[in-house]
Amino acid sequence: MSHIIEVRDMWFKYRASEDWVLREINMDVEEGSIVALLGVNGSGKTTLLKVLSGIFIHQRGTVKICGIELDRKNVKKIRELVGLVLQDPETHLLMPTVREELSIPLIARGLDQKEIDERIMEIAKLVGIESIVDKSIDELSFGQKKRVSIASALILEPKILLLDEPTLGLDPIGCIRLMDLVKDIAKRKNMTVIFSTQDIDIAALYSDYVYVIREGRIVARGPRDVLLRDAYTLREKCGLRLTRIGHLFEIAMMKGLIDEDVLPITISEAVRLLEKIKNIIKAR
Ligand SMILES: Nc1ncnc2c1ncn2[C@@H]1O[C@H](COP(=O)(O)OP(=O)(O)OP(=O)(O)O)[C@@H](O)[C@H]1O
Ligand SMILES: [Mg+2]
Repeated sequence: MSHIIEVRDMWFKYRASEDWVLREINMDVEEGSIVALLGVNGSGKTTLLKVLSGIFIHQRGTVKICGIELDRKNVKKIRELVGLVLQDPETHLLMPTVREELSIPLIARGLDQKEIDERIMEIAKLVGIESIVDKSIDELSFGQKKRVSIASALILEPKILLLDEPTLGLDPIGCIRLMDLVKDIAKRKNMTVIFSTQDIDIAALYSDYVYVIREGRIVARGPRDVLLRDAYTLREKCGLRLTRIGHLFEIAMMKGLIDEDVLPITISEAVRLLEKIKNIIKAR
């Protein structure tokens, strides 16, 4: 099967860094999938997303995006295929108003004013920022700025959207709303998404596939359904924990309160399991 992102034995270091920051990175991302990149502070999440978007160029190995090899010659093409949303919207948004922020890439692409206005309204609707398009960036809340930075990354219709810790700094409902939005856009546009996070509960809710990065290496990877149920790998190899619900059911299973072998890792999976158990008891 061909992959929209293929990374082979990729190594990267910053000019200022003594040692490698990313080592031996291998990735194969399926088109249309949502991938979570889990890792603790300083593990290399932001650096990896910046390499995949062509902001930094790796020193060893290969990175292919839509079959195009990422190198200095192709970097412009790659940047058109990939939209990157940085962790902090303040560093992302450079223009005084939302409309100007969204217009710049469209002007650079040579669209006329009518096309620009149409495209901005289309993207604003998609991201739920219609009512703030003519506001100044300074008047927006943090959550609104996050949405504007997503709109700005989507404005040129990239094939791949990379989000660096998209839920950081948002309230619990804001997190769910933002991730629901990302999932919905990805489905509708058949877009491939990679989001970095330190929140395993969010990874369990929104990803199809998971990579775990630790000290610059991918230490575990696998389908969300497999990897996020694997308590041993998560704890021992990755330095992570199970999801909260997963941990609760792990204890219940260990204590013999529940006689099941597949660990539920989200609330909806747990509810389905409890309903199943109730039906088994009823049928007795
Ligand atoms: N511009 C830079 N120059 C030199 N070293 C850097 C630079 N940016 C990051 N690093 C180093 O690279 C490593 C990985 O950093 P990175 O920001 O990618 O991690 P992260 O997983 O995104 O962390 P966080 O969760 O804190 O955002 C760290 O050791 C960091 O100190
Ligand atoms: Mg980071």
